[in-house]
Amino acid sequence: MTSAVAPRTQQAAVFVLGRRWRRATLILHIIAGGAWIGIDVMVAVLVGTGRFATDPELRALAYRALAAFVVWPMLTSGLVCLATGLVLGLCTKWGLLRYWWVAVKLALNLVLCTLIVVALEPGMDAVAAYGRGLTTGGEAPNEISSLFFPPAVSLTALTIATVLGVLKPWGRIRRRRPAAAIGPRQREEAP
Ligand code: HEM
Repeated sequence: MTSAVAPRTQQAAVFVLGRRWRRATLILHIIAGGAWIGIDVMVAVLVGTGRFATDPELRALAYRALAAFVVWPMLTSGLVCLATGLVLGLCTKWGLLRYWWVAVKLALNLVLCTLIVVALEPGMDAVAAYGRGLTTGGEAPNEISSLFFPPAVSLTALTIATVLGVLKPWGRIRRRRPAAAIGPRQREEAP
């Protein structure tokens, strides 16, 4: 795995952030990513408690807490992570689509935020209703059986994003140069 070679100057950045602002943005970025991971761990604990605890009241409470407290903090941390990541990308030498590690992180962040809105949030009413009726018995809806996927997918993707942020592997995304930019000699040599 090769490390990204840092360009010699900062000129390629769309806007250049001062050192203090860059540090502050990076700190916020890391806190948002850490908070997001923490919320995912909490989701995993609540889902596990709802599924495996023996006390029905505790299970009901876990599902109700899941429905009431999870989606908005998770989406907020995801969007703060995205916004600070965009600033860091656009305002530093890294760019958004210049290095593979940044582009992959951007894709992961966008996919995860979209999944929160289109796949997780719409099922929360059913989860809350199941939690309310659990002590009196009731069939588990599909939303309950698929609750293991969100923390599993999200924790895997966020771990990959964190590793990419720290190791910065794979180097630059090479774009094809337009024919006009290739000199006549190079064009003759081209296959
Ligand atoms: C998906 C969630 C994300 C997580 C968990 C995450 C995590 C991290 C971490 C831990 C670092 C610090 C690396 C270090 O200083 O050694 C970092 C840096 C960075 N991240 Fe993210 N990141 C995420 C999303 C994004 C997105 C969406 C972008 C861009 C669109 C982005 C762009 C950057 C950039 C450019 C840096 C380097 C800043 C610098 O050193 O100047 N990140 N990220």
